[in-house]
Amino acid sequence: MSAFVINGGRRISGSIRVQGSKNSVLPILAATVLVNGTSVIHNCPDLSDTAGTVKILKNLGCKVLREGNSIIVDSTNVTSSEIPESLMREMRSSVIFLGAILGRVKSAVVSTPGGCEIGLRPIDLHIYAMKQLGVDIAEDYGKLVCSAPNGLVGKKITFSFPSVGATENAILASVTAKGTTTIVNAAREPEIIDLCAFLNKCGGEIYGAGESVITIKGKERLNPCEYSVICDRIACATYLIAGAVTGGDVNLENTNPVHLNAIIPPLEEAGCHINVRCKEIRLKAPRRLNRIDKIITQPYPGFPTDAQAPFTTLVCVAKGTSVIVENIFESRFKHIPELVRMGAKIRMEGRVAVIDGVERLYGAEVVSPDLRGGAALVLAGLCADGITTVRNTRFIDRGYEDFENNLSMLNADVRRKAN
Ligand code: EPZ
Repeated sequence: MSAFVINGGRRISGSIRVQGSKNSVLPILAATVLVNGTSVIHNCPDLSDTAGTVKILKNLGCKVLREGNSIIVDSTNVTSSEIPESLMREMRSSVIFLGAILGRVKSAVVSTPGGCEIGLRPIDLHIYAMKQLGVDIAEDYGKLVCSAPNGLVGKKITFSFPSVGATENAILASVTAKGTTTIVNAAREPEIIDLCAFLNKCGGEIYGAGESVITIKGKERLNPCEYSVICDRIACATYLIAGAVTGGDVNLENTNPVHLNAIIPPLEEAGCHINVRCKEIRLKAPRRLNRIDKIITQPYPGFPTDAQAPFTTLVCVAKGTSVIVENIFESRFKHIPELVRMGAKIRMEGRVAVIDGVERLYGAEVVSPDLRGGAALVLAGLCADGITTVRNTRFIDRGYEDFENNLSMLNADVRRKAN
């Protein structure tokens, strides 16, 4: 187990290249199972979640090699259709292998993924989508034993909620199914567009990615290709907020600014000056931030739930009172008690948090409750008086590549220590 030790109060400034998207690379690596041959995926961040995904690919019989930030997957011989419980439990996103395995070998045995720290995270929509495509699913002691004896057959799938993972599973299971599948109320996240762009480059025929209705015309076979995933928009938001809370000046390279359309207005409302130039985005912060009236998390293109915790830290040190409403996950405020330990003034009622900004937070020993909550605590340490120790970096390592070195390159005083 390790911890980040942060000596706060330094102005975060400078320029860094932002990692590839965790939430793009995971489904795209899963999608390589559908391709008979060797795919090359570039801009893959070096994360524990990516490593976990590679372990699952190898367990299925794929040959996988990482070369720098490229991952090469030879899925010529998929020899298994089962993901062991230990691997399923390592990360929530393992469930998106279900659609890919079914699409390739027409059967799959997976265990129900562990609920993540942020909520129950059921998979009823995933199961509904697979059943719509002709998959028989038996739930047996926490395992889903799936089979499609007549193969997968395209159908209309209407989601009651635009679930990102369920949309990805429906796309992965239908891209080589017989006939046409229409997904209604599909998730519209940029990571869905990225997955569909990869599959279309492999010879898939998918229309409407990024819209609420996606049409997939099943193809016999997909061919390997070379593909580069998009930039991680949540990592971008996190580094921008590091500049915002320290009166800093941060420039991010290799970004897709259009994916940040929902987070730029609140940053500007807080008094930050944002300048977008091609694939770069620069934030200059005021000496003291203004409050943000309301942050309400929504499915894309609304305000992203993954940026909620980092923004909570921002409004903790803003002038005035801000309100945050978390609509997506029922248990995504676990970073708040830790921020209160650092002097934040926050009242909570269910999914609503009311934050009265303070002049200064002060350093303390805090514990990461989950991936984005842990990042929020590191951001708090950057602007706090004194030393902050953030324990349980393993959560943060799931989604932020080389976090302490990237922050150090932006003038932060942060180091990792065993705890
Ligand atoms: C993806 O999770 C992301 N993870 C999450 O990012 C992100 O927060 C989330 O989408 C929302 O944008 C990956 O892409 C690997 P959902 P996912 O299915 O697919 C409920 C991060 O920090 N739901 O859109 O699990 C669910 O409980 C992570 O990078 C059902 O009820 O999210 C939740 O309340 C965290 N039944 C809501 O929908 C289902 O079958 C959104 O979940 C599926 C979901």
